[in-house]
Amino acid sequence: IACPALPYMTSDPNSFAYTSARSRWPVILTGIVDDLSRSTLESEGEIAEEGKLLIEKIGALQYDVEHDRALVPLEDDGLYDVALYNEELERQGPMTWGNAPWLYSECYLYRKMYGYLQATVHWKDYDFFARQKLDAFMSSEIAVAELAIRYKTLSGQLHGSVGEDQLHLLFREFIDISLWGNATDLSLLTNLSLDQLQSLQGEKARKESEKNILVNDVDLAWKAISSVEGGRVDLILDNAGFEFYTDIIFALFLLDAGLADTVILHPKAMPWFVSDVLPVDLPVLINALGKFNRAREEIDFLRGQLVKYNEEGKIIIRSSGFWTTSLSYWEIRENGLGGGHEVWQDLKESKLAILKGDLNYRKLTYDAAWPRTTSFATAVGTLATNNVKLFSLRTCKADVVVGLADGVEENLEKTWVDITTAKGKPEPGKGWAWSGKWAVMPFSSGEN
Ligand code: F6P
Ligand code: MG
Repeated sequence: IACPALPYMTSDPNSFAYTSARSRWPVILTGIVDDLSRSTLESEGEIAEEGKLLIEKIGALQYDVEHDRALVPLEDDGLYDVALYNEELERQGPMTWGNAPWLYSECYLYRKMYGYLQATVHWKDYDFFARQKLDAFMSSEIAVAELAIRYKTLSGQLHGSVGEDQLHLLFREFIDISLWGNATDLSLLTNLSLDQLQSLQGEKARKESEKNILVNDVDLAWKAISSVEGGRVDLILDNAGFEFYTDIIFALFLLDAGLADTVILHPKAMPWFVSDVLPVDLPVLINALGKFNRAREEIDFLRGQLVKYNEEGKIIIRSSGFWTTSLSYWEIRENGLGGGHEVWQDLKESKLAILKGDLNYRKLTYDAAWPRTTSFATAVGTLATNNVKLFSLRTCKADVVVGLADGVEENLEKTWVDITTAKGKPEPGKGWAWSGKWAVMPFSSGEN
């Protein structure tokens, strides 16, 4: 489906799209070449030969990106989505790296590299980001331990007679953990027990931490969850490592509290946007949790719950190629393209589909340059009325933001200039939107 609003473009110097294409992508590509070089050095024979070829191809791709070359149709690697990418390129193109719709060109970049892997014999399932994802997780030991302790404390209170209000409060806590797990900065999380949360002091701490959540529909999400007994909740995942860990904690809470019978996790089917979860990242996480020294007892408890629910089929991994097409989530509908129809049929059965992170939000809203007071219902197009209940947990790391009240954007711009000036690095006001300091949590009932 076409969108009436224009997409963010990598040619717009006032956008984060512009900086991403010129500063972030070359760094990401260099990182991939480094990773491949290490893996190639550790290999021999045909594997090493293929590794060298991959390094050459990615080096050439980096050259094209940095020299603003044209995006050409993807080569056919036998997968179903190549035709989709090429049709989109024809529909939206012609494009060069520095003058392309941001969402399309960024998806194309990752898909193109996956095509290089598919052209090999030995590297088809290789994840260029695996090393980096695991290293980052292992270095977040303190936060991992803290959250394991917190999970054990809070979930321990579920076995008593927990009232509806207390459950609601816990739900908000676990949502917050999963939300800020998507940020680079966890300082906005509270760290209180259930008793403290119910106190006045807790209320104050919560208000303080909620100041940066610009759109907050958590109570509507709670209604969707609590008004149906048991049932199924879906998590459309974003990043591996620490964020995935916070998502797992949220899933455990839902199951422990009887707020869901099943939680379905939706990872990506190919290495994606550096840190996104692949199906293999679940066993990787379970294994990594065995390696920390701190909070051993609490981490073992959490890990045990995860393994148990996974074995019982209560935590399920379900992957679809749709998540790695360049299509917006407006295709999650009857007759939707690229697997959108199947995803729609699947998610309709869920009492709540929770979409994590920035990229999922960009795809929900078509990554279009909507005025920021546009309603979420308008920005999600057909999704507003197609019977999928969805809740987006997103810390803002890109240009698109909708659903703001009048005057809020202007205040944020001013605040951002003040903050960055005080740090001695004045930035234009627009930068608040991709600083990761603010968040939005919009809900859509699918019944508007
Ligand atoms: O903002 C930079 C960026 O790489 C975007 O391209 C992308 O939308 C986002 O970060 C990824 O963030 P997340 O992992 O939250 O989707
Ligand atoms: Mg991501």
